[in-house]
Amino acid sequence: MINNPNKALWEKGDFTKIAAFMRQSGEVVAESLHVTPQMKVLDLGCGDGTTAVPLARLGARVLGIDIARNLVEAGNKRAVALGLRNLRFQEGDASNLQDVVDNYFDLTLSVFGAMFAPKPFEVAREMVRVTRPGGRIVMGNWIPNDPTFVSQVLKISSAFMPPPPEGFISPMTWGVENNIIERFGEAGVPKEKVAMVKDTYYFASADQSPTRFIELFELFYGPTMNAVEAAQKNGKVGELHNLLVDVAKTQSKSKDVGTLIPATFMRVTVSV
Ligand SMILES: C[S@@+](CC[C@H](N)C(=O)[O-])C[C@H]1O[C@@H](n2cnc3c(N)ncnc32)[C@H](O)[C@@H]1O
Repeated sequence: MINNPNKALWEKGDFTKIAAFMRQSGEVVAESLHVTPQMKVLDLGCGDGTTAVPLARLGARVLGIDIARNLVEAGNKRAVALGLRNLRFQEGDASNLQDVVDNYFDLTLSVFGAMFAPKPFEVAREMVRVTRPGGRIVMGNWIPNDPTFVSQVLKISSAFMPPPPEGFISPMTWGVENNIIERFGEAGVPKEKVAMVKDTYYFASADQSPTRFIELFELFYGPTMNAVEAAQKNGKVGELHNLLVDVAKTQSKSKDVGTLIPATFMRVTVSV
């Protein structure tokens, strides 16, 4: 994986700093999946285990796969610290799950993870391949041009970046119904077996403010770090910062010093 820009993007910062705001919603997502003990679950683009940890606590046998080595390490440390022997993390690419056998998992989950892998048709094919017939795939995907938090942070960040290379497919295209149907269709799943519904995810902290949350994006979240670097080169870093802080402050519902920001996403459930 030498010179893999997708891997470099996510290893650049430290996503665990953002994930600290996602723990409660990660638990809510895990509980909504109704896993049963011993169920075999794959969490793709799992980060440090926002959903993988609560799924393992519910008794599932969970494998987390992520492209970023630092996040895999962080996840494995959490699993050991929590004594979760039914949870492990390994490095891998959602577009090519070469170490994973066919028809194995009861549930393949990817919450804002596989959407960031290039080659979306290969991602869909791989998710279908590793899920057993009768099993499920569940994806959480951000929605392009949605007015809520993450879509706006990504939109603002990319406006400060040079144009992407030719042929680049935006991760946000995973939030569009026709694309989702087409990608799973190419992987052999008819559209009747793909359900899509808008859902809300919350970024929450009792003691860190919306402004601090944005500073963490600027310091540790690969896509925003790249935007800050590009903005620094043309003297626009203050403008970028103000736009991001404005989104976070206006969208936070917290009544005190903390942060509570809702964000709309597309929840996709595929019956395999
Ligand atoms: C926004 S984070 C979400 C992490 C986690 N699912 C969570 O809810 O905290 C996106 C994750 O996708 C991972 N990722 C990006 N491209 C990937 C790929 N091609 N294969 C596997 N993971 C990937 C990143 O390393 C990162 O951990």
